[in-house]
Amino acid sequence: MTRTAIVTGGSRGIGASISVALKKAGYNVAANYAGNDEAAAKFSHETGIPVYKWSVGDYDACAAGLSKVEADLGPIDILVNNAGITRDSMFHKMTREQWNEVINTNLNGVFNMTHPLWSGMRDRRFGRVITISSINGQKGQAGQANYSASKAGDIGFTKALAQEGARAGITVNVICPGYIATDMVMAVPEKVREGIIAQIPVGRLGEPDEIARCVLFLASDEAGFITGSTITANGGQYLA
Ligand code: CAA
Repeated sequence: MTRTAIVTGGSRGIGASISVALKKAGYNVAANYAGNDEAAAKFSHETGIPVYKWSVGDYDACAAGLSKVEADLGPIDILVNNAGITRDSMFHKMTREQWNEVINTNLNGVFNMTHPLWSGMRDRRFGRVITISSINGQKGQAGQANYSASKAGDIGFTKALAQEGARAGITVNVICPGYIATDMVMAVPEKVREGIIAQIPVGRLGEPDEIARCVLFLASDEAGFITGSTITANGGQYLA
């Protein structure tokens, strides 16, 4: 049986690697994206993966978008909540907008995507919900009170929902990447970034494919006994 997966923020960065890895492994894949039409069109052209535009921060848009994907590709078995943003600022300078935008995308977005799919997964007695959190949801990071709160929330969400999904054949897991070589990390001032790399025992940033491999592992039918778990992939930077 060919299973169907959707990856939010699936046309760039870690999400693009996840989408491509799932496709290569034989899944039907849809990639959601919110903003960058040009990058999404290029990604779709190069990979053959259909792209769907909506904001994960908007519940109604998620419900409508997911219905469209299911009409096109069939019921969604695997949800990868990957979409995430940063609005880094020391807390004394952080605005309410910076707080709300990050919570709305990184935490509310996970609710908005999972909730419309949950009943169908329960009815079909199979589901995989895989959320991409962050090392900074585990350890906290100065300049990221908003982001760290949202990513820690993703971990709590996973642990709670795993207990609800278990008897319905749905596993719910979270992956905490460390610093991965993506646009998000490259946006950190170079000096700060160099300081971060110095704290990574492996001695380098991670690669998006190294996170995609974790997703493939959790997505498989054979991973049914793994639920509520946190996979840490951070080059040894933080030992949770
Ligand atoms: N701990 C404590 N204090 C710190 C600090 C730290 N790690 N870093 C900076 N400070 C202090 C500075 O010493 C300074 O103090 P004084 O004013 O008393 O001198 C003050 O905070 C301001 O520091 P900056 O000059 O750096 O302030 P800024 O306003 O120019 O920049 C910032 C602030 C935007 C948060 C910048 O420091 C920054 O980008 N930091 C990196 C944050 C980070 O790691 N983000 C990760 C992005 S990648 C990602 O999120 C993906 C993932 O999941 C891993």
